[in-house]
Amino acid sequence: MIRNILTYPDPELKKKSAPVTVINEKTIELVRDMAETMYDAPGVGLAAPQIGVHQRVVVIDVSAKDEPPELIVAINPVIIHADGESYEEEGCLSVPKYAANVRRHARVVVKALNLEGEEITCKADGLLAIAFQHEIDHLDGILFVDHISPLKREIFRRKYRRIREELQERE
Ligand code: NI
Repeated sequence: MIRNILTYPDPELKKKSAPVTVINEKTIELVRDMAETMYDAPGVGLAAPQIGVHQRVVVIDVSAKDEPPELIVAINPVIIHADGESYEEEGCLSVPKYAANVRRHARVVVKALNLEGEEITCKADGLLAIAFQHEIDHLDGILFVDHISPLKREIFRRKYRRIREELQERE
């Protein structure tokens, strides 16, 4: 089922998500809905709090449009190693019609559980490394716009007010 994606400044997006303690039918359903919602949007990643579920679950698919989909499901993801620097443009399904460059690590190693409850380790660079950092931030109530400079954030706030008004008018 495609779920409604919460958008900034919804206070639900600021809340910290809790670790998943049991992986059951509900977790499988949550992941299925998250993947469906992400592909429908379309986006390259989605974290559970973006659909109002405060559990540490993320889905990511950074495969190119002409490639077969490659869904990554990460439950309770933790960055266990990070190095290098990147400064790439990011967007977010919860901050529609806005993009900004964000300083991130270029490479990360992420430990997580998959849907079978098995521990997986993911070595990532490029877009996937950025996606992991962006989505894990969501689990801690952090949006990419929280990483930009205070000056840029002020410009964002003003610009975003107009974007929201325009989006609401269209509804
Ligand atoms: Ni996002």
